[in-house]
Amino acid sequence: MKFFIDTANIEKIRYFAEMGIIDGVTTNPSLIAKEGKDIKKTIEEISLIVDGPISAEVVSEDADGMVKEALELSQIHENIVIKIPMTKEGIKATHQLALKGIKVNMTLVFSPAQALLAAKAGARYVSPFVGRLDDISSSGLDMVLQIREIFDKYDFDCQIIVASIRHPLHVVDAARMGADIATIPPAVLEKLFDHPLTDIGLERFKKDWETVFG
Ligand code: E4P
Repeated sequence: MKFFIDTANIEKIRYFAEMGIIDGVTTNPSLIAKEGKDIKKTIEEISLIVDGPISAEVVSEDADGMVKEALELSQIHENIVIKIPMTKEGIKATHQLALKGIKVNMTLVFSPAQALLAAKAGARYVSPFVGRLDDISSSGLDMVLQIREIFDKYDFDCQIIVASIRHPLHVVDAARMGADIATIPPAVLEKLFDHPLTDIGLERFKKDWETVFG
């Protein structure tokens, strides 16, 4: 399973990339705005740190505008993947971009039917948002399971990126379901490391060692 980091924060990307656990990066307009820097400059900086797919999202609402933005963003680096929202115009843009050989990550996916449409239009990645679905009392991970079942029955060239991850169990369950990728916010990545028995064990080793060897 691949880990993408879900942030536009350069320091956080560098911090986790140095551990060798980051295979790619996803951003969205909210994450770019949070850092307050120009999207092109931000994506350029990220591409110097991570050698893997980097998702940059369009903000246009019509297909022509999305394609225009996508063509500009894809000039930044060969690893750029264009994030397109799951709308009819987005599906149209995805089809046009796929014909041009530009990789699309279809975002704001909340149902297996939407994921199926994205794959049919030629998206190379689909991003089901598990946390936001859980927020409205519908199981985000159940959606992922259904998308996995569908994709396994056909030969779509489309990988599942589990997005809107809120806690470590989302990551573990996504892995158990065979999701291709989890895009994980830095705060959740941090929590994946934690276990109280690791801390207690380390403390005991240290104490026993110091008791005998000083
Ligand atoms: C990533 O592709 C998504 O934009 C992101 O995971 C959304 O997460 P949120 O629901 O926490 O904003």
